Amino acid sequence: MENKLIIGNLKMNLKYNEIDQYIKKFETIKTKKFVICPSNIYIPYFLNSGFIVGSQDVCEYETGAYTGEVSAIQLASLGVKYCIVGHSERRLLFNESNLNINKKVKKALDSNLKVILCIGETLEEVKLLKKEEVLKKQLELALNEIDDITNIIVAYEPVWSIGTNKIPSNEEIKKTIVNIKNLIRKKYKKDIKVLYGGSVNEKNVETFNKVDEIDGFLIGSASINPEHFTHIINKII
Ligand code: PGA
Repeated sequence: MENKLIIGNLKMNLKYNEIDQYIKKFETIKTKKFVICPSNIYIPYFLNSGFIVGSQDVCEYETGAYTGEVSAIQLASLGVKYCIVGHSERRLLFNESNLNINKKVKKALDSNLKVILCIGETLEEVKLLKKEEVLKKQLELALNEIDDITNIIVAYEPVWSIGTNKIPSNEEIKKTIVNIKNLIRKKYKKDIKVLYGGSVNEKNVETFNKVDEIDGFLIGSASINPEHFTHIINKII
């Protein structure tokens, strides 16, 4: 079986003087076949230490007068390989719409970045029995007018599970991931990787890993602590 993909999303954590220490903790690890997504300002440090790096977001425009933004072209020119798009924090805290996300996906693909496309339902949507509908819509709109999905990886992250220590059962995750894979197969006649994200830690990762349909993990909080993150990597890869 192909290796599972592990992605650490450091979000807006770590100060400059903590980066060296963080990076050093990975010296003993047997593989660098995982992806780290630090704040953009730290990307060169991780690249120079041999990490595979992803960004946490990307600008929906190509280049020019967009103060504060970072483009796919810039990320790719640094050596960044992956790019998270549509994380629920971007959707909810920064009002990103499915249209914004679709534009970002297109720009990332144009620069040959692999896209980690995040989709997930809120608790409210679960209660309204809208989970399937929401996931289908997020997927369809994010991939609107995209014909080649070779560089797309989906991360299924139930919003209610992110940073909360609340987790879905393995059966629920399996069912949802199979649904996502079926939607993609129906439209593109192709299989893609689907990751799970939401309160994954070094204690529960092996239980999640029993679900064959999960092709890897997107890890937030547990990746901020290098000991926890290296444990997870050593257990899974
Ligand atoms: P968490 O975050 O692991 O802290 O739940 C996951 C994510 O936001 O991708």
